[in-house]
Amino acid sequence: MPEASPASTQELERAALDSLAAAKSESEIEEWRIEYLGRRGVLSTRLRSIGTLPPEVRREAGADLNRLKNRLCNAFDEAAQHVSESKRDFAPGDAIDITLPGRRSNLGGLHPSEMMMREILDVFNDMGFQTVEGPIVELEKYNFDMLNVPADHPARDLQDTLWIDRNSDERVLLRTQTSPMQIRTMEKQKPPVRIVSPGLCFRHEATDATHEWQFHQIEGLAVDEGVTMADLKGTLYEFARRIFGTQRKIRFRCDYFPFVEPGVDVSVDWDGRWVEIMGAGMVHPKVLEGVGYDPAKYTGFAFGMGPERIAMLRYNIEDIRHFFSNDLRFLSQF
Ligand code: PHE
Repeated sequence: MPEASPASTQELERAALDSLAAAKSESEIEEWRIEYLGRRGVLSTRLRSIGTLPPEVRREAGADLNRLKNRLCNAFDEAAQHVSESKRDFAPGDAIDITLPGRRSNLGGLHPSEMMMREILDVFNDMGFQTVEGPIVELEKYNFDMLNVPADHPARDLQDTLWIDRNSDERVLLRTQTSPMQIRTMEKQKPPVRIVSPGLCFRHEATDATHEWQFHQIEGLAVDEGVTMADLKGTLYEFARRIFGTQRKIRFRCDYFPFVEPGVDVSVDWDGRWVEIMGAGMVHPKVLEGVGYDPAKYTGFAFGMGPERIAMLRYNIEDIRHFFSNDLRFLSQF
């Protein structure tokens, strides 16, 4: 069998490369690979037949065929890569229809709590209150002690607290209210003070339709010479008028909070039912003293409201747990 002679190896190479050059698609190139380089392909058949050659030429013929096989393998790799690259060069009207409308990406929106808070903050900003923000992980002294709630005070039991495990002298917790921002603000500046402070609060609490273990609050504080309970009521009426309109009834009732005296809670009418939306009151003299304000000279009022409760009244949401359930069926309605 003179087939594997050097001359026919050259012929074979030319024929193989010609037919590879003619292969245009991935499947044609694959067919070519099977024909020439496959297990039963031309090259394998030839290599197998070497044993039938006279012993003197076997070695040379084998090396010759193996070199050819390498060259054809390289040529195949190159052709395959070329085809897969050119596949990416789409021609208009061919692979894609450029007249199709594009796919719209989903635009996110503000969370209803955030929307409500911005609206409330706008109202107070308009009345001259400045927005300040404080830490969610808070020191015990700001969340309790300096708000006139010492360690043994029964009022601590009103707020089931999530403590942070930490080895240090100062105890640390997830703030149960935004009231610590009253202290942080007064420690930093002298009267007059007029701030609102929004943010997340946490309580170790059994949840139900009106209680969540995490919720937002907006704190308010105004301290100056001659601030009275009339200022508190006037400010909060104006807030209620702007958020709920003039027709909605609101109610002030005596309530107890250790850091105010007197203290009130404010409720809004919801189909004949009173829903509490905030606590408020005149800043307790002990709190003023604690931050170095002279309570004989300065008085102030403070309030803390729940924007989720307010959003429930505004939008008729029956369960506060919707706010943090992260369910798009709820969230996308706003
Ligand atoms: N921090 C109080 C609460 O979370 C609300 C409050 C704030 C009451 C300011 C009075 C004055 O219940």
